[in-house]
Amino acid sequence: MSKKILLTGCTRGLGRAMADGFRERGHIIAGCSRNSDQISAISEEFGSDHFFQSVDVSKEDDIRSFCEAAIDHFGEAPDLLINNAALINRNAPLWEISAEEMAAIVDVNIEGVAHTIRHVVPSMIEKGSGVIVNFSSYWGRSTSSDVAPYCATKFAIEGLTSGLAQDLPAGLAAVAFNPGVINTDMLQSCFGPGASSYSSPRQWAEKSVPYLEGLSASDNGASVTAPGQ
Ligand SMILES: NC(=O)c1ccc[n+]([C@@H]2O[C@H](COP(=O)([O-])OP(=O)(O)OC[C@H]3O[C@@H](n4cnc5c(N)ncnc54)[C@H](OP(=O)(O)O)[C@@H]3O)[C@@H](O)[C@H]2O)c1
Repeated sequence: MSKKILLTGCTRGLGRAMADGFRERGHIIAGCSRNSDQISAISEEFGSDHFFQSVDVSKEDDIRSFCEAAIDHFGEAPDLLINNAALINRNAPLWEISAEEMAAIVDVNIEGVAHTIRHVVPSMIEKGSGVIVNFSSYWGRSTSSDVAPYCATKFAIEGLTSGLAQDLPAGLAAVAFNPGVINTDMLQSCFGPGASSYSSPRQWAEKSVPYLEGLSASDNGASVTAPGQ
């Protein structure tokens, strides 16, 4: 059955691979990212069954309008809300990260996730079903040097998701999803040329898209890792 999927960060990396994979499997996407040229390109390629808007997840008013427009486009609450958009800090020890960079990472990686939840979950509650997938990381469960701000936000995602799962009524689910390690712009920022030895987003999506599609209310509160990772 065709699912309605609201996806943040849909233009590059894992988000773009998920958009392609879900579309190929007959699902309807409402997606956002910041870059308006890339949003226009995906919008034109996918056609009017799908809905795309240039939105920064850290801006609550814009996310509210985007979520309302997406729900309107679907005609009901999404079946799946995928909080994929995130930033990583430039490699550096914590004391060399400016307050501005730290705030930007927290605003996108934590506040951005809370914004979509605030503006989508009430419609899921009304519908009586829906799965929220919050993208975590190996760095949401363990740490490395030079990425403390990013680790802090992904540990927060694990806690936020576990707490949210306890708030949700029966029929809904919140899941923290670690995608593994995949060669995207984000990985290139922290691994440099070493990123190229990891799988491409497209290869990753072959297993991850069916896996995400199969999550259900029985997965509420789970903290999981992508298949094959
Ligand atoms: N790649 C990995 O190995 C890996 C490992 C563990 C976890 N993850 C997680 O997986 C998710 C996807 O990562 P990725 O590697 O695909 O990252 P990526 O290549 O950097 O792509 C990020 C996507 O999110 C969008 N985005 C960034 N900031 C945004 C904002 N403020 N508002 C809306 N959209 C925004 C970007 O488009 P714009 O810049 O145009 O907005 C882009 O489409 C993230 O949550 C990341 O933490 C990735």
